[in-house]
Amino acid sequence: MDSVTVKAPGKINLILQVGAPGPDGYHDLVTCFHAVDISETITVSHADEFSLSVAGSVSLDEIPLGGDNLAIRAAKALAALSGYQGGAKITIDKQVPVGGGMGGGSADAAGALVALNVLWQTGHDPEQLLAVAAPLGADVPFALLGGSAIGRGRGDHLTPVPSGIFHWVVLPSPVHLSTPQVYATLDALRGDEAVAAPREPSDEFLAAMASGDATALAPLLVNDLAPASLELHADLARTLSQGRDLGALAGMVSGSGPTLVFLAADAGSAQRLALGLEAGGHRALSVISPVRGAHLVEPG
Ligand code: C5P
Repeated sequence: MDSVTVKAPGKINLILQVGAPGPDGYHDLVTCFHAVDISETITVSHADEFSLSVAGSVSLDEIPLGGDNLAIRAAKALAALSGYQGGAKITIDKQVPVGGGMGGGSADAAGALVALNVLWQTGHDPEQLLAVAAPLGADVPFALLGGSAIGRGRGDHLTPVPSGIFHWVVLPSPVHLSTPQVYATLDALRGDEAVAAPREPSDEFLAAMASGDATALAPLLVNDLAPASLELHADLARTLSQGRDLGALAGMVSGSGPTLVFLAADAGSAQRLALGLEAGGHRALSVISPVRGAHLVEPG
């Protein structure tokens, strides 16, 4: 086998409840990850050294191409675990907005793990790949799993939950936000106030998810990081109200932002909403969810 290609999805967080930071600086989370149909395509082939090239429809300026890149770190972690001595050429076709809170870098890492496990014939099972994924970043295990899952701890302790089908409009932002900066801004906004432990998802939320009831889900979406993203990027608030005025059931900041997501009643409403937002000068993607985690693309 000369090369292996894998697709790995971006994610949105339907709830993101943030507790206090722990001694390692990571915040205690309860979140609901949800994989959406905007995917990275990761192709790997044999090479003596590790190298990476990235192309795609999104702005690529801020992507590190060296050893700092999460896909390269994932490849090296898998090689170390397996005692594999060679390298790999990794090529990524990026569709997930960069620096937007949708876990594109995490999807690249998850895709590299699945692809290299096949190319190198290292034979690790999904549990072992999850164990390699967790130290790479809080969102990497979910990009392996896909679908819909409650994340606890740093976000990497995952429990899959059933989900019906939902329709969204995703608005990438030309401006990027750094995830550590958004968390630090939240801490600053909270100041000295006591921070409650993040609440478990309500039965109402889980029922709305499972039944695919967008109207019931809309008022239950919550993102504790939103005030911090809005603090750093004030235009987002205006765009959120534009989306609601155009008929979105709900609008929210995705993860640490600044990508915005709007929940639509059905596919037709999502398309109309996307057109309305594009007429207002935004780039808007109409997407369906949930989708599978990192998986092989059959050749041919
Ligand atoms: O793990 P990941 O690299 O995705 O996290 C990026 C940054 O986001 C961390 O360095 C940390 O500043 C912040 N973070 C956090 N608490 C979490 C997840 C991420 O404070 N649970």
